[in-house]
Amino acid sequence: MNIDLNNIKPQDAEAVIVPVLLDSDKLATKDTAELLNRLKTKGKIKGEHGEVFSTMTASQDIIFIGLGKEELLNGEKVRIASAKAVKKARELKAKSLYVQLINSDKLCYGTIVKAMVEGLRFGDYKFDRYKTDKKEHTDLDICLGGVSEDKLKETEEYIKEANNISNATIIARNLVNEPSNVLYPETLAEEALEYGKQFGFDVEVFDELQIDELKMDAFLSVAEGSNKAPRLIVMRYFGNEDNKSEILGLVGKGLTYDSGGYSIKPTDGMVTMKSDMGGAAAVIGAMSAIANQKLKINVVAVVAACENMISGGAYKPGDIIGSMAGKTIEVLNTDAEGRLTLADAVYYIVEKEKASRVIDLATLTGAALIALGTTTTAVVTNDDAFYKELEAASAKSDEKVWQLPAFEDYKKMLKSDIADLKNIGGRHAGTITAGLFIGEFVQSKPWLHLDIAGTAWTDADKDYFSKGGTGAGVRTLYYLAKNTAKK
Ligand code: BES
Ligand code: MG
Ligand code: ZN
Repeated sequence: MNIDLNNIKPQDAEAVIVPVLLDSDKLATKDTAELLNRLKTKGKIKGEHGEVFSTMTASQDIIFIGLGKEELLNGEKVRIASAKAVKKARELKAKSLYVQLINSDKLCYGTIVKAMVEGLRFGDYKFDRYKTDKKEHTDLDICLGGVSEDKLKETEEYIKEANNISNATIIARNLVNEPSNVLYPETLAEEALEYGKQFGFDVEVFDELQIDELKMDAFLSVAEGSNKAPRLIVMRYFGNEDNKSEILGLVGKGLTYDSGGYSIKPTDGMVTMKSDMGGAAAVIGAMSAIANQKLKINVVAVVAACENMISGGAYKPGDIIGSMAGKTIEVLNTDAEGRLTLADAVYYIVEKEKASRVIDLATLTGAALIALGTTTTAVVTNDDAFYKELEAASAKSDEKVWQLPAFEDYKKMLKSDIADLKNIGGRHAGTITAGLFIGEFVQSKPWLHLDIAGTAWTDADKDYFSKGGTGAGVRTLYYLAKNTAKK
């Protein structure tokens, strides 16, 4: 998809998209103001947020999209309305669109432009690689129209940034949507190498022997049951050579498949478990966006990629395993595997990559879905100031986060009778104890744990998401990095 400025005249586009406010007519284009007036009088469109109404003129389709009351306008509403618009245009088989810019001083200009671009990009996303009879899904030509002369340059920059963020999000969605017979540790590593080359970050891949040399016992124990060999993927981007002691460490859970192992999942729970590398997808996407935008910041990302499977060599409930940190772990449930791989990954990023702060993202617990549903990411942290930074980034990305408590009582739930830790804390407070387990390995560095089990995947098309991977975390990580970066 190509989104540009002034590349198409409104009269030449196959479809014109006109935003409509509930309480005023000011967004209509010159040629559509009268039409909109008539439609409003007839009650065909009011301007409620989410409304879409299309009509045909002699030469083109006009698509009106409702935005609601101007004073209640926000980036998320713009994103959702823009996604609806592009879906409607597809339905009408239009290939070139003139999209009238939403002009409102109730919202920051950059927020509007970026949310429009993201909405258009996300709304048109489809994972159809494996459809042999692909319906026509040719590239759309989109013109963002109504941009004033003095804002052209600024607008171009916003479009570029939003396209970069959208590409990164779509990278993450694609990675999650790939099935596990295609995307496994080795091929995930190849993807990372490819994106590193394309966007400008270094990628180093460690094989099984090298992982063994690092003594990543917990990670290797999880990987043991699979015929697919594990990979440790390390991505490095040094955009701020002046201050090499500040390194943001990103860690993504990279279970390319989670069958549960001997604590096997029921089929219903297993079918979507190709998505158990949503954290890995998010950090690969974020690295792509950060490097491509050339942010002045140092970021290292680590993915301990493996599969959780069953075989004669697989780890078993009751096993006691080691870890890179030297702590011993009693495995009471092989389905609580993510925290084991992450324990070694966060320890590695602090010890070997010298990360000064760590953020891990993981599709870690079903309990996160029970607690917060599918719209909000659960967060556990050891540093409230760091959490505030996440909140600021989340305010920009419109990806919702919510902090869970991390009281000492919860840590006690992870004490084992016969080892240093056990890998489950019991039925209660599952998301918190899972997070705190990882926290035992971050060497007291400022740390944020994002449980994206609810947000990384959607079972149905919704707003600007289509069934499957959502790309959760990419935008928030990007903005957190951007806010931290030296200007
Ligand atoms: N990958 C799952 C968590 C998950 C569940 C992600 C649903 C997305 C949707 C994780 O490895 C897991 O199996 N967690 C267990 C932990 C339990 C055994 C303590 C869970 O949530 O049931
Ligand atoms: Mg599991
Ligand atoms: Zn898992």
